Amino acid sequence: SAAQKDGFDWFMRKEIYEQPKAVADTLLGRYDTDGSLRLDELRIPEYELRLIDKIIIVACGTAFYSGLVAKYAIEHWTRIACEVELAHEFRYRDPILSGRTLVVCISQSGETADTLMAIRHASEQGARVLAICNTNGSTIPRESDAVIYTHAGPEIGVASTKGFTTQLTACYLLGLYLAQVRSTLFGDEIAVLMAELERMPQTIQRVLDEAEPVLELAADFADQPSVLFLGRHVGYPVALEGALKLKELAYIHAEGFAAGELKHGPIALIEDGLPVFVVVPPQGRDMLHDKVVSNIAEIRARGALTAVLAEEDDEAIPALADVWIRLPKVSTLLQPLAAIVPLQLFACELATRKGHDVDQPRNLAKSVTVE
Ligand code: G6P
Repeated sequence: SAAQKDGFDWFMRKEIYEQPKAVADTLLGRYDTDGSLRLDELRIPEYELRLIDKIIIVACGTAFYSGLVAKYAIEHWTRIACEVELAHEFRYRDPILSGRTLVVCISQSGETADTLMAIRHASEQGARVLAICNTNGSTIPRESDAVIYTHAGPEIGVASTKGFTTQLTACYLLGLYLAQVRSTLFGDEIAVLMAELERMPQTIQRVLDEAEPVLELAADFADQPSVLFLGRHVGYPVALEGALKLKELAYIHAEGFAAGELKHGPIALIEDGLPVFVVVPPQGRDMLHDKVVSNIAEIRARGALTAVLAEEDDEAIPALADVWIRLPKVSTLLQPLAAIVPLQLFACELATRKGHDVDQPRNLAKSVTVE
């Protein structure tokens, strides 16, 4: 009913707007004022976490994309090699696992059959299994050695939104916790990152408050047959997730690409008037930002209609973007928490305009409990 939806037209839209609170709830109680991270439910002893020499993240769908983002943060902060794999691929390829492997499975529902089979296989091979999950007492956390609950509250919309941003948040917490346990970051470095993470609910709120342009864009793009998404570094999984949302909800052909891969194929798809979303990394000392900016110039020269997600004060953008979706200033690794929000809203709004059932897209289930 409308009451359950708090006046929103869809559960999905309600859940998009719940993200500031959901992310705050994931963070709640996990960082002490004395400056140490506490993951009380993490029942793997610290000495074992110090011995871990490889992390494999397994998941499906949107949860897989949160894992792709996590890899960048976890490897950077902990220097532990981290792979990310679709659970159904992992399970059937005879992966190399040992007692020093940490398998992190990410699942909103905790019931996805492929993810469950993957962790059973990992446990049998002697790996430690840590679940990142939103559903208390579900099968996946029960069969794992440890769990970090995301505390996002029930997610009703089939397309995951607050599930994704709270999974990201839990992954950042896990990365920082491992960095603390293994001393790969100094305490004050962790403090700076935690302070920024704790500001993210407000940052997401700002993105929501300033979402009008993206809603208008959905009206403009409603009849487009195909939309591309480009990103680099952690913007790449954001592009993949933005494309997934559009496929799921609007039934539009949508594809995400790594911006650096453009020349190896995708650029052949660019033609006059093709809408392309581009996620631009924060301006900074690394070359990431400038490389993506030159990718925008390349596709624009070939007629693409560019909808660019970039920092609100990014001087390179006005000359290049047909539409500029302004993002608050955040550090590169945390940018996905803000950058995904306009793409969620875009897909929700476009599907609404097309008259689709946003909460129950055709052919999809909230939780895929068969292989
Ligand atoms: C289904 C849902 C997706 C979800 C995926 C993984 O495909 O429609 O929204 O991302 O399953 O689900 P899980 O519960 O394991 O995160």
